[in-house]
Amino acid sequence: MISQDDVAATAHPCDCQRQHAAPRLLAAAAIPPRYRSCTLQDFKPGGKAPLLEAQSVSQRYVDDYVGEDGRFREAGLLYIGPPGVGKTHLAVAVLKELIGRYGVRGLFVDFTSLIHQIQSTFDPGTPVTKHHVLKPVMEAEVLVLDELGSQKPTPWVNEILYLILNNRYTSRLTTFFTTNYRLPSDMAVAESLDRAPTVESIGLLSARIPANLVSRLYEMARPVVMDADDFRRDIKMHRHGI
Ligand SMILES: Nc1ncnc2c1ncn2[C@@H]1O[C@H](COP(=O)(O)OP(=O)(O)OP(=O)(O)O)[C@@H](O)[C@H]1O
Ligand SMILES: [Mg+2]
Repeated sequence: MISQDDVAATAHPCDCQRQHAAPRLLAAAAIPPRYRSCTLQDFKPGGKAPLLEAQSVSQRYVDDYVGEDGRFREAGLLYIGPPGVGKTHLAVAVLKELIGRYGVRGLFVDFTSLIHQIQSTFDPGTPVTKHHVLKPVMEAEVLVLDELGSQKPTPWVNEILYLILNNRYTSRLTTFFTTNYRLPSDMAVAESLDRAPTVESIGLLSARIPANLVSRLYEMARPVVMDADDFRRDIKMHRHGI
C-alpha cells in the first residue's frame, strides 16, 4: 500500500504528448541493447512464488503510478536476489512502462560502468567532468540504478553513491535499484514464502554501502526479494539438453 507521502509532486502530460515523446524518451533512457526488448509480459515466473510476486508487484507499481491526486509515486522498488533471476529485466520493464504510459524522463545506469565513466574524467585533456556524468543520474525523473553494491566500498565510491542517493532522496525522485546483496530484514520476507531461501546465501547490503545510505534506501524503495534459480543457467542447460 502506497501512502500519500510516497507520491511525488510531478505533473503528467496528456496522452497525445506522451505518445509523441515516447520514442525520444526511450532512446534517451540509455537502456542497454540486451534489455531493450524486456517487458513485464515476457517475464516468465515459471510457477515460482517469489518471481510471481515480483512480477505482480512490478505490474501493480506501473498501474498505480499515478495517485488519486494526479501525482506520481515517489518510492521505487529495490530488486534483491542472486545473479540471473531477472532483476534487471523487471527494473527495465517497469522503466519502459513508465516512459510509455506516463511520459517520464527515465534513465538506466549500471553502477560499475558509471564508476568507470567518472574515473575516465580524471584523464588529463578529457573535456567531460565528474559533474557532467553525475548530473543526469542525480536529476533523472526516474532512475534505474543497476547493481547497487557491486563496487568495492572505498571512500571514493561511497562518496559518489552518497551524491546520487542523497540528491535523489532530498529531491523526492523515483529510483529503482537492483542488487545482489540483501537487507537484514529480507529474511522475514523470504521465510514467509514458505520455501528454502537461496537469498540467504548472498551477502548483506549493509556490508557494501554505508549505513546512512541503507537507511535512506528503506524510504526510497520497497524491497522485492527474488529468491529463485539462475534463469541464464536454466536456459543454457535447456538449450544444451542437460
Ligand atoms: N523469469 C524470466 N523470464 C524471462 N526472462 C528472464 C527471466 N529471468 C531472467 N530472464 C532473462 O535472463 C537474462 C538474465 O536476467 P537479468 O539480467 O535480469 O538477471 P539479474 O537478476 O539482473 O542478474 P545479475 O544479478 O547477474 O545482474 C536476461 O536476458 C533476462 O531477460
Ligand atoms: Mg542485473
